Amino acid sequence: MIDDKLKHIAIIMDGNGRWAEARGKKRSAGHKAGSDALEKLALHAVDIDLKYLSVYAFSTDNFKRSKEEVNYLMDLFIEMFSKNYKKMLEKGVKVVFSGSKEGLREDVVKAMDDIVTKSQNNTNATLNVCLNYGGREEIIRAAERYHDDLVNGKVKKEEINRDTFTRYLDNDLPPIDILIRTGKEKRVSNFMLYQLYYAEMYFEDTYFPDFTPEMLDNIIADFYGVERRFGGINYEKDSR
Ligand code: FPP
Repeated sequence: MIDDKLKHIAIIMDGNGRWAEARGKKRSAGHKAGSDALEKLALHAVDIDLKYLSVYAFSTDNFKRSKEEVNYLMDLFIEMFSKNYKKMLEKGVKVVFSGSKEGLREDVVKAMDDIVTKSQNNTNATLNVCLNYGGREEIIRAAERYHDDLVNGKVKKEEINRDTFTRYLDNDLPPIDILIRTGKEKRVSNFMLYQLYYAEMYFEDTYFPDFTPEMLDNIIADFYGVERRFGGINYEKDSR
């Protein structure tokens, strides 16, 4: 179903808290349900041959939440990376992280490093987990790396353009083709700003725990019906 036109889907997994509140449950129950939904989606993404899936797991601003909620999420990440990812490893998924490790708990960093090492030679698909992440912060980190390479003579100014600059971002990923945000809000929320430049945007009312692989398939089908012109002209259709 998927060909070269669609390489990279990114998801802002919003609405876990509201999903839980609507059921009279604690916010943590929403995050647990969200992590189950993500596992199903990621496994499905490999089955349909999607090469890159990026997810917004925790923004730098999420540290403003209660200590209890932040700790619950960090424990959930550890559980996910150390236990639940077995199936993904079997399917040949490589896991990478975007974001800063500064300020993260040591046990979280260890679980992240372990899964990166274990999965580094996998080639079927890449799951990019954005954790302690902000898009503007990522661009600043990239500018700092570029600056260091320029100063040390490792790169020439002429070598860098809007495509090659991606090598300085946290991960060198292809542009995002589809951005999905669940949970009703219509915002980008500082997510992958450099990579989103031509993405088709899908804002879904569904809260993330209820977002299913079938819903993803419907979005992909819609994407294939959409004509993408990258600012140019499609001569077959537009020359009159
Ligand atoms: C936003 O919903 C969601 C988050 C801040 C956390 C996302 C995390 C998961 C889906 C857990 C699994 C992820 C990994 C990578 C293991 P919200 O809490 O802001 O919802 P609300 O807007 O309804 O309050």
